[in-house]
Amino acid sequence: MNRSSVKELLQSDKFLHEVHVKGWVRTFRSNRFIALNDGSTINNIQCVVDFENTNEALLKRITTSAAVSITGTLVESQGKGQKVEINVTNLEILGDSNPDEYPIQPKKHSLEFLRENAHLRVRTNTFSAVMRVRSKLSFAVHKYFQDNGFNYVNTPIITGSDAEGAGEMFKVTNFEANKAPLNEEGQIDYKQDFFGKETNLTVSGQLEAETYAMALGKVYTFGPTFRAENSNTTRHLAEFWMIEPEVAFMDLDGNMDLSEDFIKSVLGYVLEHCEDDLAFLDQRLTQEEKSKPQAQRSDMSLLEKLRFVVDNNFKRVSYTEAIDILRNSKPNKKKKFQFPINEWGADLQSEHERFLVEKHFKCPVILFDYPADIKAFYMRLNEDGKTVRAMDVLFPGIGEIVGGAQREERLDVLKEKMAALNIDEKELWWYLDTRKFGTAIHSGFGLGFERLVLFTTGMSNIRDVIPFPRTPQNAEF
Ligand code: 4AD
Ligand code: MG
Repeated sequence: MNRSSVKELLQSDKFLHEVHVKGWVRTFRSNRFIALNDGSTINNIQCVVDFENTNEALLKRITTSAAVSITGTLVESQGKGQKVEINVTNLEILGDSNPDEYPIQPKKHSLEFLRENAHLRVRTNTFSAVMRVRSKLSFAVHKYFQDNGFNYVNTPIITGSDAEGAGEMFKVTNFEANKAPLNEEGQIDYKQDFFGKETNLTVSGQLEAETYAMALGKVYTFGPTFRAENSNTTRHLAEFWMIEPEVAFMDLDGNMDLSEDFIKSVLGYVLEHCEDDLAFLDQRLTQEEKSKPQAQRSDMSLLEKLRFVVDNNFKRVSYTEAIDILRNSKPNKKKKFQFPINEWGADLQSEHERFLVEKHFKCPVILFDYPADIKAFYMRLNEDGKTVRAMDVLFPGIGEIVGGAQREERLDVLKEKMAALNIDEKELWWYLDTRKFGTAIHSGFGLGFERLVLFTTGMSNIRDVIPFPRTPQNAEF
């Protein structure tokens, strides 16, 4: 007999026929009512066991998290809270679970505790909802780009280049620690290593994506990205997923339009396709907010926040304007910022970004035209000679969610910039070739996928929106 999913059965309005499901017991109460979940939906289906005609040994094995196979009759439910239920005619235990050892009890656990049990936490309502939304969001990302003529490019995970020039890379080597061969200068001789050169895990697929945009026109990457920065914050991971579109013949205005349209589109998609999970996460956040002091509570629910982003224009503000606003802001004057803003040229910290978004503009903000000195080498220099065509999209509760730029397409200007920053032309000869052979203006950006999932689900720690987070001192599982 064909197995149905819990989701299908809960939506069914055909009754009194035989159905078959498999799943895990969430709870079993009064020796009678199983709440069964199979991952297809946040909701459980109630399965009613005829306990008088079921042997006691079997009843004892129906415990939280046991895997079971159930056959029964789908009926309209008599009880409150559900439309349908299954009257069990046959129950088989597929996998027992020991309730004394199983760490996830049917009660509220702290997120910290669940992080230590990341292999089991997806069995909770919160994590299953987050991970289903994550899955739908990633589908929406592909759908958006595929519907709009972009080609998906798989850029390398092991690279010899440092796209961001920030030096926060994990090395990839086959040398054993302390046994690496040295060259005549006494330095590690990477010529003898696996790739014959120094390699690392990618911090961004951008440089490779740019070469593809120069032939395929519109491309995007969506893959794992690695940063060895030692920042233990709620918004940083050492391994995260980044989405990087890159488009030929598009300037910074086009880039801003694309980022805004893209984010609105994927959020619109999940609002439409993840109703149950988002309703659950909305409730969860509302509960969470109640435990905060009044002044720190958000005045919008999760669903309201998502709809707000979809329905309203992002505010576009130049870095220079933003600095003026920040310099004259209350927290700056009252010395409330950890990093006070004194002059033009200061790098913006998350506290400043969040002030602009949450307190000043009260909507997503796109900042553009940053000082050249605080941005990467590949960004296009403006006529003023001191700012570059950079853009960051800032989100409430998150800060920076997107970083991007119009790229420097002029070979001579790019070379000058690289020389000034001591970036070896020989290392990036292939990148420079794009500027030699048919160069054209082009732009792109990177969106941190987990930051998007964080915003969409209303979770507050980035470790809770990726199945197995990698952070400093943490690579269990
Ligand atoms: O601003 P970033 O460093 O930009 C780049 O890497 C460019 N090459 C992108 C491009 O133009 N193609 O990173 C882009 C985004 C950030 O805005 C942030 O959302 C996310 O990646 N991000 C991180 N997410 C989680 N953990 C980290 N450690 C992150 N670092 C960056
Ligand atoms: Mg950035």
